[in-house]
Amino acid sequence: MLFFTKKGKIITKKHLFVTLFLLYSSLSLLASQHISIIGTGYVGLVTGACLAKMHTPKSFHITCLDIDQNKIQKLNAGIIPIFEPGLSELVTRNVQRNMLTFSHNIPIIVSQSDIIFIAVGTPTKQDGSVDVSYFYNALETIAHHANKNPTTVILKSTLPIGTGQKAITYLNEHGKKDITFHVISNPEFLREGTAIFDTMNPDRIIIGSDSEHTRSVMKRLYKPFIKQSIPFLYTSLSSAETIKYAANNFLAIKISYINEIANLCDKTGANIKDVSKGIGYDPRIGASFLKPGPGFGGSCLPKDTLGLLAKAKEHNVSLNTIAAAVKTNQHQKLMPYRKLKKCFTGEPLTNKTITVLGLAFKAGTDDIRYSSAIPIIEKLLQKQVSIKAYDPQAMSEMKKLFPNITYCNSAYEASEESNALLIITDWPEFKMLDMASIKNHMHGNCIVDARNIYDPCTLHSLGFHYMGIGVPSPS
Ligand code: UGA
Repeated sequence: MLFFTKKGKIITKKHLFVTLFLLYSSLSLLASQHISIIGTGYVGLVTGACLAKMHTPKSFHITCLDIDQNKIQKLNAGIIPIFEPGLSELVTRNVQRNMLTFSHNIPIIVSQSDIIFIAVGTPTKQDGSVDVSYFYNALETIAHHANKNPTTVILKSTLPIGTGQKAITYLNEHGKKDITFHVISNPEFLREGTAIFDTMNPDRIIIGSDSEHTRSVMKRLYKPFIKQSIPFLYTSLSSAETIKYAANNFLAIKISYINEIANLCDKTGANIKDVSKGIGYDPRIGASFLKPGPGFGGSCLPKDTLGLLAKAKEHNVSLNTIAAAVKTNQHQKLMPYRKLKKCFTGEPLTNKTITVLGLAFKAGTDDIRYSSAIPIIEKLLQKQVSIKAYDPQAMSEMKKLFPNITYCNSAYEASEESNALLIITDWPEFKMLDMASIKNHMHGNCIVDARNIYDPCTLHSLGFHYMGIGVPSPS
């Protein structure tokens, strides 16, 4: 039997076959697919919950995977192992919608998955380079167990530049020969504390891949963002990997820069709040990330500065601006401690009672990784200071590091009979304290406000000896 087009041309068997094949491919793309996410840390869990929210069971089902059985048990019992505003509700809702499940049986789920995200940790090694062992464990599992053709592997972990290309080679060498693997670097720009908002409202979607097929996969995955006209930038794998590092390193440089200008303001009498505002109006500079403080911390900026320096060293390239930002940051972390010592000129700190308000590396999280509170507490303990600490979320984490300091139930309890207050994290509740009452219950009058949350004159009028970062202290 012969088939004709509308214009009367004969359709050959070959044409028919190609058309049916294309139809089949697009239909299979439309069928519900299984997504798995290896690693249930901040990035993995938030990505899983947000993807679940964006889709319906007709398009995707999502399983978050982890080797940590205990973590999966907790998640299955509705307990979220990290503090992230809104995450618990989002997870619960999407579990109820049958969009989201959790499992530690990674091989089985991987074998059923069309799309596999890798969102495992990439910590820093002793020499500053990136530990990719968790990543390669995940890749090995994918190579041995992936069973869908094609399988798309999306890299969310922050990986050294060049790892994506290595992953393609690895999967092609070790994976099943009848499976085509597509590897995409799709870096994440979420911030802890605002992770859900950032994921649902991205500035851009970066898709690094050397394969055309991946565009349709990613367009389907991030369809709601296309509707919102969020820019999609298609790049090579290594460019996408570099974008992630370049972004975090730029932010690190910006923070170290403003911290140094703040330190200069401390000497000249200028006010860093005005300086930040004044330069931030310039669109080439931008107003965000210009708050001075006790240095940058967290699981990303410290790790990614060292990671990029290690990569540059491997290629014999100097990254002097980044090296300087790291050095400045190390110095800045003890700035609150140095200011505290100024309060007690001539007097040793030994046997004083010091209150540390804020232990998390920033507000909105229970994460204490590279928090400035850690080296400050270490210094205070060396001086045999008695420490009373309070943080709304991070105390149980800090107790693991410093079991022998006093943890209090509120900022008020922590400042009772204290000789000085150190504010390390800018939790909103610290901005609303009754400082007159706090002052009345303290033994001393010193306050080091390392986040500039208070008005110096107001605290001075309450009898405090106030020191901020880069703001003039009223005399
Ligand atoms: C950072 C990036 O901001 C995210 O875009 C990125 O996705 C993430 O790392 C990551 O790679 O996963 P995060 O570590 O959650 O996010 O925290 P930030 O809000 O960037 O803060 C980092 C540090 O800089 C904190 O210690 C914070 O207190 C400090 N900071 C931030 C300042 O001292 N001043 C500022 O103006 C801003």
